[in-house]
Amino acid sequence: MKLHVDREMCQGHSRCYATHPELFDIDDEGYAFVTVENVPPGWEDRAHKAIANCPERAIHIVEESP
Ligand code: F3S
Repeated sequence: MKLHVDREMCQGHSRCYATHPELFDIDDEGYAFVTVENVPPGWEDRAHKAIANCPERAIHIVEESP
């Protein structure tokens, strides 16, 4: 699974980073970005929780795991 944060939609709430710092970081301008190229096997639940917790719905799945 690959994740992407849409910078146009991200408003810097940082919930993704606060709850899942193993998947996200915050850049100098306060926008989140994904730090792992592929979500490791078994971490899909974390990814889905992060997606559900973003109030702006800015986190998207760009590629499902095979
Ligand atoms: Fe942005 Fe949503 Fe995270 S608004 S900082 S992607 S919780």
